[in-house]
Amino acid sequence: MTENNVKKDDVLLRVEHLCQYFGPVKAVDDVSFDIKKGEVFGLVGESGCGKTTTGRTIIKLYEATGGDVYFKGQRICAGTLTYVNAIKEARMKAKAEIAPLLADTKANPDNKAQNDEKIAAIKASLAEVVNENKAKIASARADQKHIDKRYSETLIAELNEKYLPLIKAAEDAGDEDKLAALSKEYKREKRKAKKTKLITQIQMIFQDPVASLDPRMTVREIISEGLIIQGETDKEKINEKVYEMLELVGLVREHAGRYPHEFSGGQKQRIGIARSVIMNPEMIIADEPVSALDVSIQAQVINLLNELKEKLGLTILFIAHDLSVVKYFSDRIGVMYFGKMVELASSDELFAHPLHPYTKSLLSAIPLPDPISEKKRQRITYNPLVSHDYSVDKPSMREVAPGHFVRCNDKEFAEYRAMLAE
Ligand SMILES: Nc1ncnc2c1ncn2[C@@H]1O[C@H](COP(=O)(O)OP(=O)(O)OP(=O)(O)O)[C@@H](O)[C@H]1O
Ligand SMILES: [Mg+2]
Repeated sequence: MTENNVKKDDVLLRVEHLCQYFGPVKAVDDVSFDIKKGEVFGLVGESGCGKTTTGRTIIKLYEATGGDVYFKGQRICAGTLTYVNAIKEARMKAKAEIAPLLADTKANPDNKAQNDEKIAAIKASLAEVVNENKAKIASARADQKHIDKRYSETLIAELNEKYLPLIKAAEDAGDEDKLAALSKEYKREKRKAKKTKLITQIQMIFQDPVASLDPRMTVREIISEGLIIQGETDKEKINEKVYEMLELVGLVREHAGRYPHEFSGGQKQRIGIARSVIMNPEMIIADEPVSALDVSIQAQVINLLNELKEKLGLTILFIAHDLSVVKYFSDRIGVMYFGKMVELASSDELFAHPLHPYTKSLLSAIPLPDPISEKKRQRITYNPLVSHDYSVDKPSMREVAPGHFVRCNDKEFAEYRAMLAE
């Protein structure tokens, strides 16, 4: 599914076979999707299906159990579970193959030489699998360890390119004041670059604006926290940036000195948005940013996100449990059910030709604007045990039409293709 008809270099974030397990709970289980630069990707599904966990794993609040996440072509998350499992399985398989050979040797000692040869071959191929997967584990760990350092190094290289010629020119000109000022600025920027992590280019707006804002901090402190962590010490610069952000999200600079409890729900969410946008991110993960708000306020906050997307060239992963919220806002939509992605298509395609029964049930939950059709609207309930028979024919994510993916087995795949052909 990573090979849909889009050029690879358009992709900003690529999630491949992501798994996040909490003990026996498979909160996210083999989820794959990608988000193109400038796109709004909607992720929907009912409460507990793993939407927030997907977002939190991407920004590395959790260590991924399995699978990979690439941001701007660099692997930012690398789970090792699949490799660990591959080793386990190979060991078990080898053990099962060797046991009867040993038994045979015991019963028929004449066969020993022949059996030993077979056993050696099995052990050799096991060693190959083990080494291959151990190398993958090592490379995943290495990527995790070095990703931020490598990123800092590229930032520092950019600073060198910018500042070193300027410093040299000031030196040559014998301009002591300019040289001192440039050197100071260069040092400060370098210190910041050392602390900057690639992952700060993805910022998350959290689900619950009340719980996500520390009540003891002023709005100024909340909004500027990320900058300060990144090593910004210039107070004036910080203040200017905070005011700029407040105005950008529709608040005023006088709000900077106040505390979260003095704001309405919609305003709190605007503060949350300002806090993430100040980091100058390329991508925002908006986790149900409007679910806790009154319907009348929801549209305002969505419009704000839309405006910011245009103004700042943002790419957005928009999480919601309700399809109606994401419909107009998202270019593409992924539908999750119990930790799995079950359908993925462009927004228009998903609404015009929903295929997975769970998507159909989500669509049937949306009230219709026309009272007559609304009266006739029937809620479809989804029961996986009734809808699918996966006892033999197993499901996987398949491309039913270009760019339209559904989790289905062979039989369903044929049925869905036929439905689309009608
Ligand atoms: N830190 C955690 N430890 C253990 N289990 C967790 C943790 N976080 C989430 N879970 C479990 O993982 C599953 C997915 O939770 P998640 O919060 O991702 O769902 P969600 O789709 O965001 O739901 P909602 O719409 O209610 O926000 C749930 O069963 C949840 O109980
Ligand atoms: Mg959630």
